Amino acid sequence: MATKIGIDAGGTLTKIAYFDEHLNLQLISFLSSDMQAVKDWIDTNHSLASICLTGGRAEQLKKHFLSSLDIPYIVEFDATMAGVMYQLKQENIECEKAIIANIGTGTSIHIMKENSHSRLGGTGIGGGTLVGLGQALTGITDYKEMIELSDLGNRSSIDILVSDIYENNKLPINGSLTASNFGGVALKGNLNRRYEDYLSGVQGIIGEVVASLCIQAADAHSIDNIIYIGSTLENNELLKNIMESYTILKEKKPFFLEKHGYSGAIGALLESI
Ligand SMILES: Nc1ncnc2c1ncn2[C@@H]1O[C@H](COP(=O)(O)OP(=O)(O)OP(=O)(O)O)[C@@H](O)[C@H]1O
Ligand SMILES: [Mg+2]
Repeated sequence: MATKIGIDAGGTLTKIAYFDEHLNLQLISFLSSDMQAVKDWIDTNHSLASICLTGGRAEQLKKHFLSSLDIPYIVEFDATMAGVMYQLKQENIECEKAIIANIGTGTSIHIMKENSHSRLGGTGIGGGTLVGLGQALTGITDYKEMIELSDLGNRSSIDILVSDIYENNKLPINGSLTASNFGGVALKGNLNRRYEDYLSGVQGIIGEVVASLCIQAADAHSIDNIIYIGSTLENNELLKNIMESYTILKEKKPFFLEKHGYSGAIGALLESI
């Protein structure tokens, strides 16, 4: 039984972090649509633990606890940054200045430098877009199935590359860059497109939009490192590959932390210690 637990109640997933009796970090997540399951899990496993909360759905989760007034809350961005710093140290990553993108339900973009951080902006394109647009196009609702299928897809009939437009003309920029995500569906004719291809195309939108914003932010602030976090990267090699290759192509250094989606929960846990 842990004495402290950190909880990040996000738009889609509620993440929990705690140290076990051997001081090993333990992590578990629940769907935020089932807060009762979170409460039941805590009651069964850690009923005496003190809780520190973060995340946009913290108030909704609090309603399930009798002693809700006593539960401390830490601002989501502070918790996330504390969790990122902790993981950088654990993973021996030297990174003092970075752009940080948290690809959650939506995406929030931050700058970290000189031991402080601030929010630069964000986009509504994020993990929610992946599952929402994916579902609209294929009817698939299971996250794991969607990710696995997308990995088998081919984006060549979905997107238009710069080289598709320029053909034999002299290329003004790298021909392998996407000129238009999903533009191929309208302009490349009636090809036989599979669910796998559409889902792969949706991953392309998320990866390229978020990476582009981060690269532009990095350029504007003369920063080389970009750290990508958020549960959208969980078991999602395709998305990581898209973001990694685009970031490297633009001469920035991408980092992915091992516990992708848990920075906020880890930050809340550290706050409670
Ligand atoms: N088991 C899962 N079920 C549903 N979505 C999942 C699952 N695992 C990963 N995801 C992906 O993770 C995304 C949520 O990421 P994350 O947990 O970081 O966001 P959040 O904290 O809930 O949202 P926000 O921070 O925007 O409030 C989902 O939109 C989905 O793309
Ligand atoms: Mg979140």
